[in-house]
Amino acid sequence: MKKLLLIPALALIAFIFLQATVKDNESIELETNVFDDKIPPHVKAVIDQKCYGCHNAESKNEKGKQKLDWDELEASRKAKQLATMAKINETLVNGDMPPAKFLESKPEGKLTKEELETLLDWSAGKKKSPK
Ligand code: HEC
Repeated sequence: MKKLLLIPALALIAFIFLQATVKDNESIELETNVFDDKIPPHVKAVIDQKCYGCHNAESKNEKGKQKLDWDELEASRKAKQLATMAKINETLVNGDMPPAKFLESKPEGKLTKEELETLLDWSAGKKKSPK
């Protein structure tokens, strides 16, 4: 009788163990994405077009380059990248970038809905393949 109980008990233990392993793999996958030091190409494409001009070491926009330099971000440490991504996400959620003043004279610089979504997903650490 005792032996009969052992089988479901072992099955249960195996099940719990497997569940835990699956969960671990998921979080590892999420982390490697969030900590990815390279910006994915479909995200980079949007950045190059809509953000990079003001946010690079050679930019004439002093305040812009001081606040954010994409090349520096790509080369920086993961903790810094995460903090900057959070800041980028916040800025985008608030609709603060590109600056409204700049868009007055260059309305084509505005992010399209898809571009905004791409940047929001990326800066929030979501994994999404390019459409
Ligand atoms: C016309 C130039 C220009 C463009 C284009 C531009 N920015 Fe900025 N950005 C600035 C300036 C100027 C500041 C500093 C604003 C301030 O401190 O008031 C800034 C600040 C920021 C900050 C820092 C905010 C903070 O409070 O630390 C982030 C993040 C940012 N921009 C992201 C972006 C993203 C993402 C894009 C593309 C969608 C973008 N920017 C496009 C000029 C620009």
